[in-house]
Amino acid sequence: IKHIAVFTSGGDSPGMNAALYAIAKAAEKNSIKLTGIKKGYEGLIDGDFINLEAHQLQKLTQKGGTILKTARSKRFMELEGRKKALKTLKENNIDALIAIGGDGTFRGLLAFSEICDIPVIGIPGTIDNDICGTDFTLGFDSAVNTAIENIDKIRDTAESHNRVFIVEVMGRDSGYIAIYSGLVVGADAILIPESAQDYIQLLNKIKNYESEEAFIVVVSEGDELGAELVATKIKEMNSDVELRITRIGHVQRGGNPTALDRMLGIRFGVAAVEALIQSKKNVMVGIVKNQLHFTPFEEVIKQHQINNELKQLLVLFEK
Ligand code: F6P
Repeated sequence: IKHIAVFTSGGDSPGMNAALYAIAKAAEKNSIKLTGIKKGYEGLIDGDFINLEAHQLQKLTQKGGTILKTARSKRFMELEGRKKALKTLKENNIDALIAIGGDGTFRGLLAFSEICDIPVIGIPGTIDNDICGTDFTLGFDSAVNTAIENIDKIRDTAESHNRVFIVEVMGRDSGYIAIYSGLVVGADAILIPESAQDYIQLLNKIKNYESEEAFIVVVSEGDELGAELVATKIKEMNSDVELRITRIGHVQRGGNPTALDRMLGIRFGVAAVEALIQSKKNVMVGIVKNQLHFTPFEEVIKQHQINNELKQLLVLFEK
């Protein structure tokens, strides 16, 4: 391997810059040229490239977002776009590719693998933690920490007014951010897309709620009902409650990555370069039981599950 190109794609997530730094460091150590591709698959198609060196990236591990910028590309969904991307790689003598992104990115990589003879390694970068083949995705821990910082603040005002708050967190179709943040802030109810039972428990609880304290509901944005409908149902069940809705939103995507995410970025980045040197291709690097783990792209995009232990915790804490 003489020349690696790297891009970030889909929603940005804290820790992506740390991964870029690690990739640059490992490339430098192995005398491999490193090219950064701007704006994900869009830049791959158009040849929007920059030179990347470790010393430029060293101080950026603390920064959220991605210095390469990112995008969700419609053109790459078409075969025409993917062919153009491959041509661009070849014209620039790039002989290996690293992609950092979430499930949309991996769907793109799987489609690309049908025509691409250049080895590709993926890094799971998304706040949603919804990727198979890794215990944690890059950015999840930071997003959860941002969510809990915000919910803790909401609790202050909720307790002062004895209000019910419905707090919506991100995660797309995954309830991971809701479970982690809801449990550690001591939420009274946590609603996730993976469970229908949680809603019934919430209604049972709210029936007996006597407006003498705060009541915090954390709801995942992908939950079937959604914050508005949950609010309506709560009001129907107990018309005495004073209720407010807060959507934490994109704040969860930004901010300085936590130590855990910086470290995850560093481990993923170095492992991706080493995997290419060891002739691995079309796999994602993940961490399972604290060990590096490689998963083929077709496995990565399978339906991600919440493990049973976490589901049991929800049942226990929501009673
Ligand atoms: O996939 C990351 C994520 O932040 C999801 O949690 C959320 O549903 C989505 O991206 C928001 O996307 P956009 O930034 O395009 O609005």
